[in-house]
Amino acid sequence: MAKDKTTFTCTECGGTSPRWLGKCPACGAWNTLVETVTEASAGKNRLSTPQGYAGAAHAQAVTPLAAIEAQDVARTPSGIEELDRVLGGGVVEGGVVLIGGDPGIGKSTLLLQAMDALQRAGLPTLYVTGEESGAQVALRSRRLGIDGSQVQLLAEIQLEKILATVDATQPAVVVIDSIQTTYSDQLTSAPGSVAQVRECAAHLTRMAKGTGIAVILVGHVTKEGALAGPRVLEHMVDTVLYFEGDTHSQFRMVRAIKNRFGAVNEIGVFAMTEKGLKGVSNPSAIFLSQHSEPVPGSCVMVTLEGTRPLLVEIQALVDSGGPSPRRLSVGLDKDRLAMLLAVLHRHAGVACMDQDVFVNAVGGVRISEPAADLAVMLSITSSLRGKALPRGFLAFGEVGLAGEVRPAPRGQERLKEAAKLGFSVAVVPKANAPKRPIEGLSIHAVERVEEAMNVVREMG
Ligand code: TYD
Ligand code: MG
Repeated sequence: MAKDKTTFTCTECGGTSPRWLGKCPACGAWNTLVETVTEASAGKNRLSTPQGYAGAAHAQAVTPLAAIEAQDVARTPSGIEELDRVLGGGVVEGGVVLIGGDPGIGKSTLLLQAMDALQRAGLPTLYVTGEESGAQVALRSRRLGIDGSQVQLLAEIQLEKILATVDATQPAVVVIDSIQTTYSDQLTSAPGSVAQVRECAAHLTRMAKGTGIAVILVGHVTKEGALAGPRVLEHMVDTVLYFEGDTHSQFRMVRAIKNRFGAVNEIGVFAMTEKGLKGVSNPSAIFLSQHSEPVPGSCVMVTLEGTRPLLVEIQALVDSGGPSPRRLSVGLDKDRLAMLLAVLHRHAGVACMDQDVFVNAVGGVRISEPAADLAVMLSITSSLRGKALPRGFLAFGEVGLAGEVRPAPRGQERLKEAAKLGFSVAVVPKANAPKRPIEGLSIHAVERVEEAMNVVREMG
């Protein structure tokens, strides 16, 4: 077989160059050329068709959709309940999972625990480590109390050797820790470059689909928060999981942001202990900080991403700023904060123009749903006025540019969870107000943001 050649392809226009250049010779874009493998045989059997274009293949048979037998995917639960929840029930045969997160957040720990559980459930596993030596992984397994583990380990970073080993040992699940350390000798680029990561992930995905072996890729997140190099990886794989959370806090969340075999936005919650990650089966109250008395600038909301409601405290600090005041948010969208401040000014007459505004979602949780809007605005006004919201208070609802308060999905569930945890007063969008009262919870339904502000002011 002829050896495959590499060329450099522009990610913008698709133009090619035989060697790397800073600027694409075809479209002139900078830094867009990425090394790609071209198979030596490609282009050999081109046919010219009467239509005038060159096609390399003959027409294939097509099948009506109804005639294709749909099979349920075979899943094996890992036994780690919070992980199975985000995976959509367990590890899928031939499925490819990408798990991303900051260094030190617990990716290797979680996967080692999961592999051990799968191995004990009777599934042969292979853990390929490129980041750490075998001795380091053994040390970690000792800390986790799984030192008698039968998980097979391979310390290797060259893709071809990994594939050959997988072929020889035939595991059911392979972990590649990490995809950024893996390299193929078909390419000349350095390990970790976009070209290498993409090529290695593509080979591993093809292997998974061809053999039914499940593959779990560990990916690093860059400082900007994207998986290093390749967002391209996200569309290749079946499932994308992100580790979130503050490395300083004990709690970690794994969120499914894409899943071909389950629901997205599902969250698994873990606590990092000295014996590894432990699932938190009832996480609804862990993102509340414990104040003995209500404090200004704090408002609790119920977020519902995935299937479980979580109560999260939103904190705001509004303080006099300099000539160009700062707007900073942690765990919430910064652009949305600017928008909410404008709405607050225009529709509720609350001005923060000369003030620094900081908002934070407690506990390192990241909230992307707009249902947080009302709680963000109420915590800001509470901080500005130096007046705490009442004890047992919560609010949720999306706020529009016109000052209208829009309903959040599954409002009843949110309110019931809050009542269960002892909350007593809620400000919610009108459409979310329950038909029958919820015991212990007095509900104020509002349609506009100024109405919400008035309700709160009247509470004293
Ligand atoms: P690690 O799983 O190596 O993170 P990643 O692979 O995402 O880079 O490390 C997780 C962190 O957790 C590390 O700083 C050490 C700590 N840790 C514990 O607190 N308890 C434990 O049992 C283990 C194994 C690690
Ligand atoms: Mg690691």
